[in-house]
Amino acid sequence: MSSPTSSLPLTPIEEHARIHAHLMTLGFLALLPAGILVARYFRTFTRRWWFGHTLIQAIVSGPVIIAGFVYGYQSTQRLFTGGHWNDPHKKIGLALFILYLVQLVIGLSIHYFKPSPTFFKGRRPPQNYFHALFGLAIVALASYQVHYGMFIEWARSTGNLHPVAMGCKHFWLGCTTVFFGLYFIGVALFLRRQYRQEAVARDKTLNGNGAYGDGESGRGLTKQQKV
Ligand code: HEM
Ligand code: HEM
Repeated sequence: MSSPTSSLPLTPIEEHARIHAHLMTLGFLALLPAGILVARYFRTFTRRWWFGHTLIQAIVSGPVIIAGFVYGYQSTQRLFTGGHWNDPHKKIGLALFILYLVQLVIGLSIHYFKPSPTFFKGRRPPQNYFHALFGLAIVALASYQVHYGMFIEWARSTGNLHPVAMGCKHFWLGCTTVFFGLYFIGVALFLRRQYRQEAVARDKTLNGNGAYGDGESGRGLTKQQKV
């Protein structure tokens, strides 16, 4: 948020809001997408993808997003803009925070409470699809939110003495396009392989030999089956 037009230092309130903006952008547009790409690119090669995914989504992103939320809330307390949750940025911000927490619970429940494959007649459990689509929707909404924050909220709330730097806007564009681009390349490259692995694993479970086809792919497969 440095400005080409103003050489004055940021006011304490601007500093506070800037920390909020940077933490939220880092959490929602860099860390969460990185955790998703770990899942998309590594899940058909190693079972440890789940550890990387959870580490980034919960342990690394969690503190960044919670701190960003607290800084945002405190920024609103300090600014005289009519209080909490009264404009689109503030409402979407609260919604995103709640959606993120809900997504953590869904992710953990997928991993720890697995229905028997017979329950869904040998098909992939719907909650696995849901978690993936919900995660992509969260990142898409966060991209809109960061854009709104940079192009509208910042100027409206701070008076725009120090406009948002062009570099921040380029960073937004870069994160959004690189993430969705890489994600769909990953889908094109690995989704069929993933479904094949999962189908074999589910089949083995249904036939009672102890493997488990849980939609997290590859469990109980031999090296030859993991093709
Ligand atoms: C995914 C990213 C973001 C989320 C989830 C988010 C969320 C929030 C939340 C929850 C608040 C407090 C609302 C309240 O207490 O009523 C807030 C305030 C604020 N945010 Fe964000 N924010 C994000 C990104 C940004 C960005 C990128 C900027 C600016 C570049 C920004 C600028 C602000 C400002 C200036 C306020 C104070 C608004 C006011 O009180 O008038 N935010 N945000
Ligand atoms: C404690 C936290 C989390 C756990 C334990 C967890 C667990 C999982 C599991 C078990 C899967 C496999 C589901 C499937 O079969 O497709 C998965 C995939 C996925 N997760 Fe999470 N997750 C967590 C947090 C998150 C968060 C916060 C997001 C995004 C906001 C997210 C986004 C995704 C996406 C997009 C996929 C699908 C990736 C792909 O295309 O393969 N996860 N996660």
